[in-house]
Amino acid sequence: MINGNTRLFAIVADPIAQVRTPQVLNAYFEARALDAVLVPVHVAPEGLAAVVEGFRRTRNLDGFIVTVPHKTAVAALCDALGPAAQATGSVNTVRRDPDGRLVGDMFDGAGFVQGLRTQGHDPAGRRCLLLGAGGAAGAIAFSLAQAGAAQVVVANRTRAKADAVVQRVRQAFPQADIQAGDADPQGYDVVVNATSLGMKPDDPLPLAIDRLQPHTLVAEIIMKPELTPLLAQAQAHGCPVHFGRHMLDEQVRLMARFMLRD
Ligand SMILES: NC(=O)c1ccc[n+]([C@@H]2O[C@H](COP(=O)([O-])OP(=O)(O)OC[C@H]3O[C@@H](n4cnc5c(N)ncnc54)[C@H](OP(=O)(O)O)[C@@H]3O)[C@@H](O)[C@H]2O)c1
Repeated sequence: MINGNTRLFAIVADPIAQVRTPQVLNAYFEARALDAVLVPVHVAPEGLAAVVEGFRRTRNLDGFIVTVPHKTAVAALCDALGPAAQATGSVNTVRRDPDGRLVGDMFDGAGFVQGLRTQGHDPAGRRCLLLGAGGAAGAIAFSLAQAGAAQVVVANRTRAKADAVVQRVRQAFPQADIQAGDADPQGYDVVVNATSLGMKPDDPLPLAIDRLQPHTLVAEIIMKPELTPLLAQAQAHGCPVHFGRHMLDEQVRLMARFMLRD
């Protein structure tokens, strides 16, 4: 039961109905017998700053999750940013300290890398091809470099966005072997689809399946469908595959621990 001592958490989004974080994080709190609740908060961009200021002044609120379209705007409203948020310019989780200070960080990339590790695919020392240069891909590029990938090549339809991701990662990790390139998957240990191709049934594949080598791990971050056409075809080609849900599962744990200071 929610009572006067219950700690508050929120997720801000626009639209809000599609979010799954309330179910997942409330189950997380319940499993740990924490007196805490996370509620969905529907906020349009023009109301964002006022709501964040309200959160800052809400003394029984310990943090909030941020999703589309607010990840970049909230980064500018925080008092401090963690390394992944600084490198990507966006946040998906904010912790509210007891004095009202807001600390933001980005766990998309860390969740993806941790998901790989839990499935036995540590990216350290591996050659990685990253397809896409949007919000999720930028965070994953940062975390692959942080995890010690031997090489990261970023391939994106809009080349300038791939170049920008590479530049930001190089700023954070000057020693990292990261560059923009094409989507030919031959010669990589890990290929990650971080484009939105695969969400709709008639989307083209993001790469040429016949150029995949059977040892290459093909990883998705799309969660619906679980077995995207890319994963189905990669599997039929003999490649090991990695599902999008592992990223979210690990991200939720990382976000909860950050907000709970665990
Ligand atoms: N599993 C998880 O926890 C998790 C977390 C976050 C996101 N996601 C999923 O990741 C995907 C990307 O999300 P995002 O936030 O990074 O989106 P985003 O910022 O909009 O980026 C979309 C990316 O897909 C590329 N793209 C879109 N349509 C394309 C097409 N027709 N041909 C080639 N490339 C195309 C874009 O290329 P351009 O730059 O050329 O437009 C861009 O690189 C979504 O499916 C999202 O659901 C999953």
